[in-house]
Amino acid sequence: MDSGWPLLRGHLLCLMISLLVQGRGDTFMINCSGFDRHGVDPAAFQAVFARKAFRPILNSSSPTHVNVSFTLSAILEVNAQLQLLTSFLWMDLIWDNPFINWNPEECFGIDTLTISAELLWLPDIFIVESMDINQTPPHLTAYVSSAGRIKYDKPMRVTSICNLDIFYFPFDQQNCTLTFSSFLYTVESLLLGMEKEVWEITDTSRDIIQTQGEWELVGINKATPKMSVGSNLYDQIMFYVAIRRRPSLYVINLLVPSSFLVAIDALSFYLPAESGNRAPFKITLLLGYNVFLIMMNDLLPASGTPLISVYFALCLSLMVLSLLETVFITYLLHLATTEPPPMPEWFHSLLLLCTCPGKRCPTAPHKEQKGLALTPTHLPGLKEPVELVGKMPRCGQAEQKESARTLQKPETQKQHLIDQWVQFSHMMDTLLFRLYLLFLVSSILTVIVLWTT
Ligand SMILES: *[C@@H]1O[C@H](CO)[C@@H](O)[C@H](O)[C@H]1NC(C)=O
Ligand SMILES: *[C@@H]1O[C@H](CO)[C@@H](O)[C@H](O)[C@H]1NC(C)=O
Ligand SMILES: *[C@@H]1O[C@H](CO)[C@@H](O)[C@H](O)[C@H]1NC(C)=O
Ligand SMILES: *[C@@H]1O[C@H](CO)[C@@H](O)[C@H](O)[C@H]1NC(C)=O
Repeated sequence: MDSGWPLLRGHLLCLMISLLVQGRGDTFMINCSGFDRHGVDPAAFQAVFARKAFRPILNSSSPTHVNVSFTLSAILEVNAQLQLLTSFLWMDLIWDNPFINWNPEECFGIDTLTISAELLWLPDIFIVESMDINQTPPHLTAYVSSAGRIKYDKPMRVTSICNLDIFYFPFDQQNCTLTFSSFLYTVESLLLGMEKEVWEITDTSRDIIQTQGEWELVGINKATPKMSVGSNLYDQIMFYVAIRRRPSLYVINLLVPSSFLVAIDALSFYLPAESGNRAPFKITLLLGYNVFLIMMNDLLPASGTPLISVYFALCLSLMVLSLLETVFITYLLHLATTEPPPMPEWFHSLLLLCTCPGKRCPTAPHKEQKGLALTPTHLPGLKEPVELVGKMPRCGQAEQKESARTLQKPETQKQHLIDQWVQFSHMMDTLLFRLYLLFLVSSILTVIVLWTT
């Protein structure tokens, strides 16, 4: 008998354990005699409420499965300086509580209940990137089904850190990460799953976001890498939220006025250089552009160097360059009409070369100007050089005839020198104008290509 007793005791133990395990289903069945048409007796749930401090699980070595989902309901702010995205989202959590279980047929057909979330155990899911204290409103409720499935939705205003790249501003697209993870429970205790597919989340969010604000939702992707901190492994779900800026505000307020000013600057080359109007006009434009930049500075991102700043700097430097060019041409004309230095031989041949074959370069209108005092302000007949192309039929012959003639009198010779210098200035003006146009077009094309890629 000495050897039989422990055996019997073992059998009894087994029987008791198996009885207990068998009885679990009934043990945690909620007695719904308290349920009626008018409501639910809180006493029926007393056992559940009393356990809310602990993770509700029958076998402590099995993890709780929590399914996560969210709906992005608003994109409130994107702060490039602090690298923060402020959004509003509804987080949905679904998990099973094995201690909640009732038979709806016995309980007046009650299938689901709403229970104050404060009375239930809640998984501590948080957003890793969140840089703000949780602003969840208090007194939320949760849906509880008769099978013990709990659905808990909470609205959250999330200020999350996001690596913002504003180089392509205002045509930029940002990719922000929202990582849902448990704060405390490792993979042994809590596993995360997806409640909905990401395309469903994207579609719902697109429908919900009704605001025509600055940002639009492009898409949501997900990844589920585990996060290891020290020796602990945490389950997490990462959502990549791609948002795109609506650029119309910036195009209308920044790019269009800036382009207009540069276009006017380019057109102002058609003001005759002799009239002396060109330099003041360009200075006014430069001033206007500076005022524009100061006023629109608030619209630009406060940090980093977006391409648009480079574009503005380019426009400004183009204007400064064109002003410098005007100063240079004015100086040349002044020199030509007051004390023209002797024209080097190569200048002369350059003039001939340039004026005759294609007749593309400007030619000073000798015949019209003969006898006029060639001061900058007294040249009403002098029009834009380009317009005068073709007014001298056989320029090569004319040049030679004139140079033969000019040898006769010193005054005529001086007049001829002046003419040549004026002609040279116009040639330089046209040349520099073309270089300016080339530079303008190529730089604007570069910026556009950079923007569209
Ligand atoms: C439920 O509780 C009532 C009293 O509150 C009791 O009379 C009844 O037998 C219980 N039913 C079950 C199935 O335990
Ligand atoms: C608890 O779960 C573990 C693994 O899931 C299993 O091996 C073990 O038998 C379970 N224990 C009980 C008492 O159900
Ligand atoms: C979580 O989702 C998976 C698949 O979508 C499903 O099989 C599982 O029952 C869900 N679990 C909970 C607790 O909702
Ligand atoms: C966002 O970034 C992640 C990795 O950083 C990448 O897997 C995902 O495809 C990106 N999403 C978009 C829309 O670019």
